[in-house]
Amino acid sequence: MATTASIPLKRKRIAENILSETQEIVKTDTQKSIEDHCRRLHIDNHQTHIVEKRMRLSIEHGLTKEGHELSSVKCFPTYVRNLPTGKESGRVMALDLGGTNFRVLIVSLPGSRDKKPEIGPQQKFTIPKEVMVSQGTELLDYIARNISAFIKAHKLGEEKLSIGFTFSFPCTQQGLTSAVLEKWTKGFKCPEVVGKDVGKLLCEAIRKREELSKVEFKAILNDSTGCLMSCAWSDPKCRVGLIVGTGCNACYLESLDKVQIYSGEKDGSSSKTMVINTEWGAFGECGELDFILTPWDLNVDKESINPGMHVYEKMISGMYMGEIVRHVLKELADKNLIFKDVDVSRLSTAGTFETRHACEVERDPIGSFDRCRAALKEVLKTEKVVPKPDCYAVRFVCEEVSRRACMLIGAGIAALLRKMDYKDVVIAVDGTLFRNHPLFYCMVWLTMFS
Ligand code: GLC
Repeated sequence: MATTASIPLKRKRIAENILSETQEIVKTDTQKSIEDHCRRLHIDNHQTHIVEKRMRLSIEHGLTKEGHELSSVKCFPTYVRNLPTGKESGRVMALDLGGTNFRVLIVSLPGSRDKKPEIGPQQKFTIPKEVMVSQGTELLDYIARNISAFIKAHKLGEEKLSIGFTFSFPCTQQGLTSAVLEKWTKGFKCPEVVGKDVGKLLCEAIRKREELSKVEFKAILNDSTGCLMSCAWSDPKCRVGLIVGTGCNACYLESLDKVQIYSGEKDGSSSKTMVINTEWGAFGECGELDFILTPWDLNVDKESINPGMHVYEKMISGMYMGEIVRHVLKELADKNLIFKDVDVSRLSTAGTFETRHACEVERDPIGSFDRCRAALKEVLKTEKVVPKPDCYAVRFVCEEVSRRACMLIGAGIAALLRKMDYKDVVIAVDGTLFRNHPLFYCMVWLTMFS
């Protein structure tokens, strides 16, 4: 039994033990400086609320005749008036162009929600840089050439196939097969195509090839619309399509009487609705997000292929998230707050820290830095084991950037849900960033309900 005299001594020893066990998690002055530095990436609930309201107003303006030209959120009518019933059947060819790859696949719809659609064969083609940034209409020839390659490889030459083309860029549609490109986004730049009907260009490129005489082009649509339609095929409550991938965008089902910019027939079809492609990635082009932009965002924008455009998308999506992190890390390194003993020259080169690296960093269990170190080894091309405090800082920066992205997406979704005023809505989500980031789902969800 302890004597009264030995109690203070024992207490002191226990206290020392507790202090030394937790030494590692007490913030150092350097950590505090890093956190102070990154505070500009932090947005609070009040700011998120402002973003939500501004987004909602921009969507409302985008739909009106007078507001459409001026609003940053254009809200393009898609000419899709009905969501699928689940009874659709048949075999079609789907083309998908919008990120770094061009995909071709065959989809068979079974005619009933009790069965699953069949996918396959399918093939992915990496789009060469010179095609993404080309003068003429090489991009469309590239697409036609690869459809040919696909048909040949899978011996589909004798089959009559209808084509649905997912073309994920801002377009003014004039029907299901006509889409005039407004501008390029996500690193594409083929100036000759802007202002032209991409549906028509694709038809012309297909017609040039005899081996494609049996395919028939039936529809052109945005990836957000495709996402909504495919989810609605199996879930009748689905009303919103969200893409969080290389770019970020959303579409939703709107009452036709609110879509002033739609000049097509309104009464012929029994449906009184229309899917609207918001193209909300452009939100912020009228200064709506200036109050939360950081110098790092401005740098990313300045170095992008389309400065001043798609501001919201540049704060969120996979094409830019890694770049924001790179700029922050470079600044912290320049200020001697991190990487004191590591060669960080590669951080000066755009594109070295990719969004997939940020996903890896955040996939580490708390307190472990294995994935973080592996990612840094690849980014910095170093054999040196990066010290723990540096790994901690890198994780902190990634978390700040991704948390902000999720809060911005949450604000956007909240704006749409408020606008739609539905009580029970299913949101379809797709995109590489949403699929690969370990925490996006939870963080977006939390923001929407806070
Ligand atoms: C960009 C495009 C948009 C697309 C989104 C996601 O924002 O402008 O059309 O839906 O990326 O791919």
